[in-house]
Amino acid sequence: MQSIISYPSRGPWGSHRYRGNCTGHLIKDLLNYFQPKKFVELFAGSGTGRDVARHLDVQNSVHLDLNPTFGGWNALKDEMPTGSDFVFSHPPYHNIIPYSGEEWGRTPHMDDLSRCSSYKEFIQKLNVVNAKVYASLTNGGRHAVLVGDVKQEGTYYSIIKDMAYYGELEQHLIKVQHNCLSDLKTYQGAFIPIVHEHVLIFRKTEVWMIPIVHARRTEQDIRQTENVVTWRDLVQAAVQALGGRGTLSQIYHELASTKKASNNKHWREKVRQTLQLHEEFIAVRRGLWSCDLAGFSAAS
Ligand SMILES: C[S@@+](CC[C@H](N)C(=O)[O-])C[C@H]1O[C@@H](n2cnc3c(N)ncnc32)[C@H](O)[C@@H]1O
Repeated sequence: MQSIISYPSRGPWGSHRYRGNCTGHLIKDLLNYFQPKKFVELFAGSGTGRDVARHLDVQNSVHLDLNPTFGGWNALKDEMPTGSDFVFSHPPYHNIIPYSGEEWGRTPHMDDLSRCSSYKEFIQKLNVVNAKVYASLTNGGRHAVLVGDVKQEGTYYSIIKDMAYYGELEQHLIKVQHNCLSDLKTYQGAFIPIVHEHVLIFRKTEVWMIPIVHARRTEQDIRQTENVVTWRDLVQAAVQALGGRGTLSQIYHELASTKKASNNKHWREKVRQTLQLHEEFIAVRRGLWSCDLAGFSAAS
């Protein structure tokens, strides 16, 4: 295996009719590489992992899914089998493919991860499952999780960035996607189609303590920073905040309370100098400035 993996065919395992199924070649390569003593598969779906385990004659394996075909095992409520040194999981892609009530069963199941009411709820529930998986591993064991980022209505949802990481990230593989339903779609406007997924492999390296990495979103007001912004950045932002053009006194007003201005008693001179020095700032008429970002050359 290498860090970029690509399997154009999914192989004879599981079912290509089950939406969101994965290639068995990936599971086969992971099992051959890690040679686990006890293999547990979560989100088993159409049985891809079970069929691969049979094919490789892996004796000690368990395959679980909320789908009644796999016993209706609920990753949020039911206990994880213990004593595994290798867990493979392939959770839903948020709500891109709904499972209960569509792929199986007549009605949506309240704990189906593909039926969460928001992306936030999906990430919270995925974190619960991943924490349970990690706790169940034997020391030195691994959790390989196959996840894909999604784009919906113009928003990019990076599951691998937003989910918590339990354990040491031992490997990050990029898996090229083949034969997706979305390949058949034509997209309006500027959109770079997502044609890859991620396989994150976490290793348990400590019996009691769990290293956890959480993504945290914060915001920084550039007006209150000193070293990360230049006068050019601030003046550009001020003109943009004024709708693309503004008088000198309006630009002063926008910038008066910035940290850079409060630390420089000649800040007004600095603003005028910045406006005069850089080609993106255009004097529309005396005292009125606009900002032409399209005509701005990166080299200047
Ligand atoms: C992406 S599919 C897995 C496909 C599988 N790897 C295959 O090749 O067929 C995700 C699976 O997660 C299952 N699932 C969703 N919520 C679950 C839960 N709370 N507990 C267990 N399984 C769940 C769905 O039923 C679905 O089969």
